[in-house]
This record gives sequence, C-alpha cells and structure tokens, in this order.
Amino acid sequence: MTSFNSLSRRGFLSGAAALGGTALLPLPARAGTEIGLTAAPARAQLLAPPRPDTPVWGYDGALPGPELRFRQGDRLRLRARNGLDAPTSIHWHGLRVPNAMDGVAHLTQPPIAPGGDFLYEFDLPDAGTYWYHPHMGGAEQLGRGLAGALIVEEEAPIRVDRELVWMLQDWRLEQGGEIVPGFDGRHDAMHGGRIGNHVTLNGQPAPRIEIAPNERLRLRIVNAATARIFALDFGPLAPVVVALDGQPVAPHTPEDGAVLIGPGMRTDIVLDATGGAGAAVPVRDLFRPDGAYDVATLAHGDTPLRADAPDWDMALAPNPLPEPDLDAASRHEVVFHGGMMGQMMMGADAPEMIEQMRQGRMWFVNGRAADGHDGPPLIAAERGSTQIISLANRTGWWHPIHLHGHVFRVISRDGRPTAHREWRDTVLMAPKERVEIAFRADNPGDWMLHCHVLAHQAAGMAALIRVADAA
Ligand code: C2O
Ligand code: CU
Repeated sequence: MTSFNSLSRRGFLSGAAALGGTALLPLPARAGTEIGLTAAPARAQLLAPPRPDTPVWGYDGALPGPELRFRQGDRLRLRARNGLDAPTSIHWHGLRVPNAMDGVAHLTQPPIAPGGDFLYEFDLPDAGTYWYHPHMGGAEQLGRGLAGALIVEEEAPIRVDRELVWMLQDWRLEQGGEIVPGFDGRHDAMHGGRIGNHVTLNGQPAPRIEIAPNERLRLRIVNAATARIFALDFGPLAPVVVALDGQPVAPHTPEDGAVLIGPGMRTDIVLDATGGAGAAVPVRDLFRPDGAYDVATLAHGDTPLRADAPDWDMALAPNPLPEPDLDAASRHEVVFHGGMMGQMMMGADAPEMIEQMRQGRMWFVNGRAADGHDGPPLIAAERGSTQIISLANRTGWWHPIHLHGHVFRVISRDGRPTAHREWRDTVLMAPKERVEIAFRADNPGDWMLHCHVLAHQAAGMAALIRVADAA
C-alpha cells in the first residue's frame, strides 16, 4: 500500500501509459496504518545486461528501496525489520522528527539487531522530497545499496504532467559485478571519500527515459551516493529549481546552468521537454570536467503533448518552518580541518590532532575528531533559541554538512548574503569556503551535525548539537 518498488518504477518510466496528461503516482500510504520495511540481502542488475548482476543489500528486495509516499500532515508508522547479518537502523533524512525517531544507532536508539525490529512513528509536518537510509557505523550499509526516497506530497501541488523520482547511487564494482569491499578505507577517507566507478539512476546505468515534446516534468532528484557530487547538465533543456532538500525556494535557473547536488542533498526541478520531436537529450554529470558521463537520456517522442511548453506557476507553498530570529541569535564558529592536500594533512598541527590521526581520525571539527555519539556537545542550545553557525571549511575538499532534526537557512557564503536564503538540511561547502547557517533550535534532543561523505564522517567529521530546555 505504500509503494512502488523499483520494478514498477521502471515500468513506469518506460511505459506508454505514462505519456498521458495525468501523473500516475503510487497511492499515498494511509495515515497511521502500520507498514513494514525489511533490510536484507538482494540482487540487482546494476550493470547493463548481459553483464552479471550484483549482490546488494536492499529494502524489501528492491533497489533503490520502495518509494514511500505520504501526504503533508500524515503520520508515518513503519516497522523496520532487520534481515541482515549486521545491526542496522533507519534515519529519515531531512524530516523534523522527535529525537527518539531519528534512527541514529547508539545515539537516539540501540541498533536493530539481526532478526530484530523497531517501530518508527511520527508526524509529517513538511511536504517535500526526503529519503531514508541506515545510520549505523560507516559507509558500508549505504555503499551496499540501502536507501530509498520518502515523498511527502503538498496539499496543493504545482501543476505538472508527470513527476519522476531520481535516486542517484554510486557503486564501486569489480569486473564480475560484486561490490568492492572496504568502505572506510584510509585513502578514501583522507581524500574525497569512496567514489565509485558506476553510477545508477533508480538502480539502472544511464537509463533512457521517454518523454513527450512539451511535456512538463517535476524531477525529484536525490543524491544517495556515499561520496560523489553531481553537477547535472540538461543540455538544451532549461531546468528550474523549485525546492532544495524538500523545501520550496523561489523558482530559479541554477547558477552556471548545472544542478549541483552533494551527497544527502535533494533538488526538485521543473523541466519542460523542449528538445523537439525525436531529440535524445543526455543528462550529464559535469562535476569533474575531465570525466563527464551520462546519467540518463531524455528521449523525446514524435508526438508533442501540446504546441508549446506550458506556462503554469511553479512556486510551491512554504512549509511551516520556524523563522530564525537573527537579532537575538547565539553565534558559533565551527572550523573543519583535515584531509590531504598534496602530501600535507591540512591544519592538523596541534599535538592532540596528530595523536588523533594516529588513531585513524582524519577530519576535525573545532580540533576534535568524533563519531558524533560520544563526548560533550559542540553546541548546547536553549530550546527555542536561534543559532547562527559559521561553518569554515579549511580543507581542500568539498563537504556536504548535514544537521539532524532541524532545517536551517543558508544566509551567507564567504560573507556575501545568499540570493535565495534557502532552507536546507544539508549544505555543500566548497574547498576553503565559509558558509553561515541560521535556525531555530526548537526540537529537543541530541542531534548530529556531520559530513555526508560517509568516509569523512566515519573518520571524525561529526559533532553533536544539544537542544534542551533552560535548566
Ligand atoms: Cu543522511 Cu546523519 O544522515
Ligand atoms: Cu566531508
């Protein structure tokens, strides 16, 4: 009743019926009805046939996991079952849930043991594009495939002909199709994380997606890779960004033309199929200019859906987020150090940092490498207060920094106010960049702040923010 597994999604992408004017969406889960989700070993055809399939870990045997769909204001009730040999948990990335439902193993709940289960239950106050994944240890569980989309539909969605969810994943595969083991390797951890050698969209390499000329699509793009950043280029088509990390933003064309999405992040775009009858438009990842490749092909059919692209309104209604009070804010400086730059470890000159490096910790948050479960909080915030955090990236690498339990505004970059003051739960910092974020700390509990390059997180790029009532 929830979902749409990846098989039916594939059928949906290529099905002729999908070209009609109405969006064929899975039925939203009934509010309050308990649904189940099982993490277990599975097999997936990640390489193009006749190459071999790949042993993966999946939810309900699907890759990506089933798309969970709800309506704004619904209550999610989901029993997670563990069919793996390893303990696991589920984190609801971007959703403002009560702390005990946040799914961070060892912090907000004990791990779900093999054969065990855990009931997640919470309200969904915000519409948008979210996702779920294990929050257990390092990069292995996502690197083996465990991830799925969670969509919360607006009460009054914007008008489009069709909506597609694109789950991007990145794999490091052997010739024979198996996943290369070693998920938190030292070399990956000190550099850009575990970048793979095979990218899939909804479990398929560079799928061909049929669209009708002048059809209007809403794409909900989720970067579920453990390290890879995408800069998606749509060639002659003109994507308009309408939401970031699920949160509506003033519709705008992306800076530099490409849609930049770091691990953990989501972008909703409106895309009109203006390529012309018969046009095959590749969607390319240009993040590494020396290694551009196709993520998908948008194959325009011969029969236009209408004479011109539609001019329907694209602005989404905002979610009920608490506006930060910038005049009465506490300010914090959070400095990230570590990683390699040429032969040098960046900024790790203090003796405590050198000692931590000996123990395999490669990244530092205000001088400390942590797993985000132990030790004192980086920031203690009084419930209801506004926090402004200046995130300073003193490393040579990109980092998508994710805060749990809250959504923040990105207010400046390198001292310049941002054009859209966008709401986000994950913000991508370029090398050496300084980014200021602001949020109302209204959700009590201990929340993680960490890099979503998971090998960085596992090597120390994590901290805790504690939100509590005044003593
Ligand atoms: Cu998407 Cu702390 O994670
Ligand atoms: Cu990082």
